[in-house]
Amino acid sequence: MGRVIALVSGKGGVGKTTITANLGIALSKHGLNVCVIDADIAMANLSLLLNMQNSPITMHDVLLGEANIQDAIYDGPAGLKFVPSGLSLESYRRIDSERLQGIIDSIKGQFDFILLDCAAGIEKNVLAAIAASDEVLLITMPTSPSIADVLKAKITAQRLGSKAIGVIINFVRDEKGEIKKDDVMKMLELPVLASVPFDDEVRRSFMQESVMPIMVRKPTTPAAIAIQKAAAKLSGLSVQVEEPKKGNSVSRFLNRLFSIFKRKPKNSGDKK
Ligand SMILES: Nc1ncnc2c1ncn2[C@@H]1O[C@H](COP(=O)(O)OP(=O)(O)O)[C@@H](O)[C@H]1O
Ligand SMILES: [Mg+2]
Repeated sequence: MGRVIALVSGKGGVGKTTITANLGIALSKHGLNVCVIDADIAMANLSLLLNMQNSPITMHDVLLGEANIQDAIYDGPAGLKFVPSGLSLESYRRIDSERLQGIIDSIKGQFDFILLDCAAGIEKNVLAAIAASDEVLLITMPTSPSIADVLKAKITAQRLGSKAIGVIINFVRDEKGEIKKDDVMKMLELPVLASVPFDDEVRRSFMQESVMPIMVRKPTTPAAIAIQKAAAKLSGLSVQVEEPKKGNSVSRFLNRLFSIFKRKPKNSGDKK
């Protein structure tokens, strides 16, 4: 049975789609059977990044019960398989995303990894994608608002019975004021699988003449190398995940901020 991993964040624009595509290709290059699914059923950005926006049968059709999931699986770059979302707003309105779980369960046996590129936040469709996953990978920027938001996503995942397995920090510039990797690990109580630097090559992925993820176009660029390390850690084909160093305390301000989110609401037991 394959591992179904949802890539989630609090805010949009933190790099979920970019990391889903590149992580999927990196895992595929390791010889693994990987399917990436565009679970952002409103925006469908993954198709654009993979340059596959003309795929006729989409997840919309499958969710509407009008097509079989097997007919919505396409060949992507580097041996990757890909399920596009749809572009029609009209079908988006009619979709019942709760069917996602059954659809994903039906293809689990075909792959080593199924990666779900989620929408931002914790709205209904995101909850359906998290519920359909076994594991959740959090994507955040190295700033406290972004980390605070992703913490909410982590708590949501726990309540839905999906295991948060780690964090990828994206847009790292090593500037003053950024939250350091060790502090991110402490705040989220999860290992950091990669610190992906801000990299101009990533932005060029969307340029008209060269739409293709960096893992295909330029796998030696720093962001691609960081994502390859995350892929190796995820698949267990490489070194152990780094754990937080002891004795390095998070600042008082951040401790206060995060203790607010970690407080258990009265009379609400977690589902697990
Ligand atoms: N490490 C990075 N360096 C530079 N640009 C990046 C990086 N990661 C993502 N981007 C760019 O940021 C924008 C948002 O990324 P995207 O993956 O679409 O985010 P999300 O799916 O979380 O909304 C895109 O234009 C993408 O090319
Ligand atoms: Mg996206």
